[in-house]
Amino acid sequence: MPPPDPTPGRAIVLYGRAAFDHAQTLKTLAAALAQARQRRGETVSVATAHADLSGPALPAVLAELERSGVAEALVIPCMVPADPSLSAWLPGALSHWSATRREATGGPPMTVRLAPPVESALDLAGAIDRIADGPAERLADVREVEPSLGKPGWSAIPEHGRQLLFCVGARCLHRGADALYQRLRAAMKPHRDLNAGPRRVMCVRTSCLYPCNRGPLLVVHPDAVWYGELTPERIDRVVNGHLLGDSPDAADILHRNGDAPPPGAPP
Ligand code: FES
Repeated sequence: MPPPDPTPGRAIVLYGRAAFDHAQTLKTLAAALAQARQRRGETVSVATAHADLSGPALPAVLAELERSGVAEALVIPCMVPADPSLSAWLPGALSHWSATRREATGGPPMTVRLAPPVESALDLAGAIDRIADGPAERLADVREVEPSLGKPGWSAIPEHGRQLLFCVGARCLHRGADALYQRLRAAMKPHRDLNAGPRRVMCVRTSCLYPCNRGPLLVVHPDAVWYGELTPERIDRVVNGHLLGDSPDAADILHRNGDAPPPGAPP
């Protein structure tokens, strides 16, 4: 067996999309990777982070690793195929995280390295080959399944008064959108009329809504009101002032459709 890794406190973070992680694929991969490293005598912990929809988001995972004494974290994007927009944004976002930590703690932050996305190294062709040649009983004949384009209930539009679009795209998630969405749902929960009936607010988590630099953000329709730079306090004011009281706080509004574009918007 090779000698143990001389670098203490190293970690690997597998960074993937929550939408494709229902079966905890990332966690399974992480466990297998950790075991393989252990067998080779390396002391490295393996964590997972999500790029969108739900946490844990990368900043939270990195902060936790740093708190636990990890000196260097290697982030490996595990989205196949890789998302070019995410790949272009991620280096700067990680650098920003590092600089912010340095400012906050006053000390040298944990070193963060970024690997190329796994698609370049993954044996996709081999995996597809193995599936295609797999046992016939695992290759389902669709004629044995009831034809359907959707469940019967999916034809009705649920009763509601407003729709709330809450961005959980990669950049908003990086800025804490997951915890803020939980805050929103918790603040709405005790109010019966926000959850059923004609005043119901249908909350929909979305991917990028575009003004990422003003994120995390949400939009309330049909009022066409945008709220940006969300904080827990702002979320509470949206629920109590706008959704319950029908009186949004003008100081919180980033933009209303029909108004002049917000400052900083591209021409
Ligand atoms: S990721 Fe939320 S606005 Fe772009």
